[in-house]
This record gives sequence, C-alpha cells and structure tokens, in this order.
Amino acid sequence: MKPQAGLLNPTSELPSPFLIRRDKTPGQANLSKNCNSLPPLGSRVWPVFNSAKRVPPDIGQENYCEATLRTARASTQVSKKVLITGIGGQDGYFLTKLLLEKGYTIHGLLRRDSPKGRGSLEHLEQGKLEQVILHEGNVTSSDFIDELIRFSQFDEIYHLAAQSSVAQSIQHPRETIETNVLGITNIATAIRDKSPKTKLLFAGSSEMFGDIEESKQSESTHPHPQSPYGLAKELGFHLVNTYRKHYGIWAATAILFNHESEYRGDQFVTKKIIKAVVRIAGGQNECLSLGNMYVKRDWGYAKDYMQGLVLMMEQEEPDDYVFATGQLHTVKDFVNSAFGQAGISIDWSGESLDEIGSNQDTGEVIVRIDKKFYRPGEITGTCGDATKANKKLGWSPETNLETLISKMIEHEKQTSRPA
Ligand code: GDD
Repeated sequence: MKPQAGLLNPTSELPSPFLIRRDKTPGQANLSKNCNSLPPLGSRVWPVFNSAKRVPPDIGQENYCEATLRTARASTQVSKKVLITGIGGQDGYFLTKLLLEKGYTIHGLLRRDSPKGRGSLEHLEQGKLEQVILHEGNVTSSDFIDELIRFSQFDEIYHLAAQSSVAQSIQHPRETIETNVLGITNIATAIRDKSPKTKLLFAGSSEMFGDIEESKQSESTHPHPQSPYGLAKELGFHLVNTYRKHYGIWAATAILFNHESEYRGDQFVTKKIIKAVVRIAGGQNECLSLGNMYVKRDWGYAKDYMQGLVLMMEQEEPDDYVFATGQLHTVKDFVNSAFGQAGISIDWSGESLDEIGSNQDTGEVIVRIDKKFYRPGEITGTCGDATKANKKLGWSPETNLETLISKMIEHEKQTSRPA
C-alpha cells in the first residue's frame, strides 16, 4: 500500500518499525492525516514523534516528515548513531553541535508535552536542527525507553534528561526522584537487556557531594547529598557503577560542577542575575532579589564541559570523571562582576537579610536579599578537582568566569526585548 503524504511509515529501506506503547494516551490521534499527532497505542510506525510545534515553520509539515525520514534512512548507513536525552537544555545544545561536527547521526529525546518545546535547540544555526531526529517521550516510561533502545541500537547514549533545579527538588521531591532515578534506571536496564553494545554516559552532579570539609572534591570523594536532587544524582552514580562493574555494560558518570552559558535556564542564579543586570543597565527601574549571596560555587562554561563528555565517551574503558574549574566565587562576586561589566559599580551596605546594593552613580537600590530564596540544607561551597580528566583525557576548561559572564551578557542583550 502506498503511504499517504506526510505519513510516518516505515519503507522497505528502513529497519522494521517498532511498537509504540504509551503510559498515557492524550486522545486517539489519526496518524494517516499528518505527522502532527501521536499515533494510537499499538500502532506500528517509524518511531520519530513530531508534534505541530516541532515542525520548523519554513519547511512545512509534509516536507518536514519527508526530511525526517530521509535523515532516518541516512542514520542506518553511518557508523555512529547517538541518542541525547534532555537534548533541549543548554548541555544538549552544545553536545548536539559538537557531535554534528563529527558527522554523527543525532537522535534527541524531548520530554512529552514539555512547555519549552525544543528549548535551546532553537538556537542551532540554520540547517542543523533539521539534521536532528527528535523523539518525544518520557524517560520515566520503561516501555517507551525499552522500545526506543531495542529498536535503534544506538552506539552511544548521553543521558542528560533530569529535573535539574536543586531548589525545585526541595519543593517537589517526588517529581525529582521519579524523573532522575527512574530515568537512569530505565536507560541502563534497557541497554543491559536489549542493546548491550551501546555506551552510556550519565550526567551526574557535584550536588551529590553535599557540604563537606574537603577543599576540593574528586571522583574519590564520599558523597553526602543534602537535597532530593543530590540524593537522586548519587543513586544514579552508584547505579551506573553497578551496571558497569557487575552487568558488563560500558557506562560512566561525568560528575559535573556548576556549568552555565548563554542558554542557561532562568531558574538558575547566574541567568537570573544576568537578566536583571541587562534590564537595569538598559534603564529599567528594577531591584534584583537574591537569597544567600555568600555561598560559593565553582562555575564553568557548559561548552567546555560537553567537550569533556565527548572525550570521555571516546575512551575504550569506561570511567568516571569530575569536570570543574577548581575556582571558587561567591554569588556576590558574580553580582559585582556582572554589574561591573555592564558599567555599574555597586555600593554595599547593611548586613545579613538587610544587606542592600546601591548603584554608585544614582544611589538607587538595585540588589536586595529575600529570605524566600534561602535554601534549607544549603551547600555553602563546592569546588572541583578535575586532575583526573586533565591527566587521562587531556581536558581543561578554556573559559574563565569573566568571559562566561561577558558571553551571557552579550547574548541577553541581543535576545531580550524591552518589556
Ligand atoms: N536559583 C537561585 N536563585 N539560587 C540562588 C539565589 C536565587 O535567587 N540566591 C542565591 N542563590 C544560591 C543558591 O542558594 C545556590 O547556593 C547557588 O546560588 C547556586 O544556585 P543555582 O544556580 O540554582 O545552582 P545549584 O548550585 O543549586 O545547582 C546547579 O549546579 C549543580 C552542580 O553542577 C544546577 O545546575 C544543578 O543541576 C547542578 O547539578
């Protein structure tokens, strides 16, 4: 039977289709009309899920389906086929760029019904996004993950998908534990049982170390997490270790210290500060409210860290690596530096919750403290030791904090519009 226009259907050149199963059915869709809707449960279709908002407006629905099929066919002919979960975040953006440059075929997993759509991927240069094969689904669904991994037999999987805000994990622990624990469990198990040659790289976090005395944390530092997010990341770290040591799969954890970029989400302190700085420097009458400004973080540039992940994945033997700059700065240092780069010097006065920052030229209060941003179980300082990554992978961070701040400010100026 001839497939109708736009129908996501396997052709003779494609590998056999897989059976789609879903935990939730958002209404029964009619796939034969277009590839705009998800197919009904039990359909046998080529597993590329595209929803209306994911079709680039310039090429149109039917062409997009055709293009997706062409790329999918191509993916059966190249040597490396990679899946990036959580591809819509800042890390997914940089990783996609790096791997496309290597000529790999990239499959990306986006969370179903994500309010952010394709997220940071929208910033890819023209023509690049169309090269990525996007799938929609949840890492928490073992059926979905099993079928995707069994069917596709990826060479490599970068598991980045997570609920990544520590603050949100304190508010909504269940969601964080569910996504961050089930996600890695489903993926590692599907690889073990259905695609044992697939390499797995898990994006771990320095948050699992908690607030400890050691001046710098390395791969051998004992974890002491203090948030549901940190706990979930610790579990992922141990799970990856177990699957590597006892179940024979190539699996490794990148222990990532704070890494930021122009594509950072608004919920993180660096982006929050940069946005306010650009608005205030642009003449808006606004005051930046922050929590504890005396906590210290080891902030690096996300692109540098993704380069580290690629190096890790290229190793024959799987191993865990810390990625960090080894430099500590307070949130207040970041505030001073960001305002300074925007041409504003701050006079600080007051103490504790009453501390304020005023514009030295105008006297206006531009920074305040708000208790609601303080966290229980705060991690006051976390600094990484990336010696192992340097020695074994030849990795070192290229971007210092000043340059990172400057990149973030420039990007914010270009993309923000006056309210
Ligand atoms: N978000 C936020 N908002 N943080 C604030 C604020 C505020 O208004 N005021 C002070 N902070 C402090 C937080 O209390 C925290 O100590 C620090 O700024 C950094 O907070 P975030 O930017 O939210 O990052 P994080 O350190 O909690 O977590 C990030 O780094 C981890 C380690 O790499 C996230 O990217 C995690 O996903 C990541 O694993």
